[in-house]
Amino acid sequence: MAKLVKVAETKNLTPGKATAVEVEGNRIAVFNVDGTFYAIDDTCPHAGGPLSEGQVKDCKVTCPWHEADFDLKTGDVLAPPAFEGVKSYRVVIEGNDVKVELKSE
Ligand code: FES
Repeated sequence: MAKLVKVAETKNLTPGKATAVEVEGNRIAVFNVDGTFYAIDDTCPHAGGPLSEGQVKDCKVTCPWHEADFDLKTGDVLAPPAFEGVKSYRVVIEGNDVKVELKSE
């Protein structure tokens, strides 16, 4: 089962900005890249850096702690020192609401 959970409003997340939200035990980083929204786990698997505070370029975020790169679409790791990616979430915009899809496992 999957459900959509509101995590932000579009007006509060201007292009180039990210925010971290806590949703049902998941800490999720939500990014606005030129009007397209992406959501991935906020916690870097290398040593726990906050990806929502990382530098965003194109569709990639660089961890602020040791500069591993992650793909915002898939959560895949693109550059070390992290060796594994993070979970990515489908984002749905409904009106002004930014929602992420959570799947129960
Ligand atoms: S904590 Fe993210 S690269 Fe080290």
